[in-house]
Amino acid sequence: MTDKLFTPLDAGAIHMKNRIVMAPLTRNRAKNDTPGVLQATYYAQRAGAGLIVSEGTPISPTAKGYADTPGIWSDEQVAQWQEVTKAVHDKGGKIVVQIWHVGRVSHESLIGGPPVAPSAITAQSRTFVGGEFLPTSEPRALETAEIAGILEDYARAARNAIRAGFDGVEIHAANGYLIDQFLRDTSNKRTDGYGGPIANRVRFLREVVAAVTGAIGADRTGIRLSPWSNANDVGIDSDTPALFAAVIDVLNEAGLAFLHVVEGQTGGPREWPQGGIEALRDRFKGVWIANNGYSRESAIEAVDSGAADAVAFGKLYISNPDLAERLEADLPLSPLPTQGLYGGGAEFYTDYPARAA
Ligand SMILES: Cc1cc2nc3c(=O)[nH]c(=O)nc-3n(C[C@H](O)[C@H](O)[C@H](O)COP(=O)(O)O)c2cc1C
Repeated sequence: MTDKLFTPLDAGAIHMKNRIVMAPLTRNRAKNDTPGVLQATYYAQRAGAGLIVSEGTPISPTAKGYADTPGIWSDEQVAQWQEVTKAVHDKGGKIVVQIWHVGRVSHESLIGGPPVAPSAITAQSRTFVGGEFLPTSEPRALETAEIAGILEDYARAARNAIRAGFDGVEIHAANGYLIDQFLRDTSNKRTDGYGGPIANRVRFLREVVAAVTGAIGADRTGIRLSPWSNANDVGIDSDTPALFAAVIDVLNEAGLAFLHVVEGQTGGPREWPQGGIEALRDRFKGVWIANNGYSRESAIEAVDSGAADAVAFGKLYISNPDLAERLEADLPLSPLPTQGLYGGGAEFYTDYPARAA
């Protein structure tokens, strides 16, 4: 009997040939904020996944928080991404772009001024500025009137994604970046309609979802959350179950293609208060992509039991370009990568071999 992990799945309008997802992985190799042949090669090597989620991709020049991340705001970037999506499609893969605004997780040297955030609270976090990691800069609080412009940037990024040939987008609402900063009472101290009670803190996310689905349709829009992660020092909300239940109600209403959840601490322990993730999973009505620390065995078990509809793998996809094929054939996996994660060129990027058939 075939394990369900290796069977097809429809996530909205996106037909996946299997339930193995390549998780978004920032690799800082895109010079001039633009992808190129190197990225096309890298993603095409991984086209055996049912779905690839691209690395975090800034929606505007000031949405950026790290050196050499590929953006999706200009025609030149769209033209280059077309080469990437074509390379993946030619290999029979599917790819969505993870659209990203980092908020306060940035450095002035990257964006020419202070980063923006819901509130002027500095994250005790570091960012890769090229060659080295530096502490994030002190942000300034967004004016209420500025928010409409950011929503337009999201809508433009979504339209550009379709022009670039992507199968859809994943809104990055995880890991302590802008949308997550608006959600949590640790990082959002606003006194306007975007701060205070949960209904207000969820508003920015709801408006981003509306902007993106209005531009390209809900059936091509997914979203990523990390409810119990303290990534980038965002803090754990004082009532995470209620906050994320409210978020899921918004997502159910919108009818998104998928929800991608980092279960526990991003890249760390799969820990949350008892029943927390399970309750959110029960509440969500669409396709649930689970991530964080999965192995072949635990992924098969999660999908068979219904705990997840699909499973995303991050680090394993760096060192195993043909991960989906290896999982299905139960072939040995290359060890997790230990170097060359951020920055550089082809080394530790496109030079991990596929297993000889
Ligand atoms: C090098 C590296 C880059 C990452 N970049 C992103 C990113 O751009 N967007 C994102 O949502 N998560 C990012 N993550 C988190 C991964 O998508 C994933 O959640 C994490 O690695 C846990 O999954 P795993 O145990 O399968 O690796 C990154 C992780 C690593 C190791």
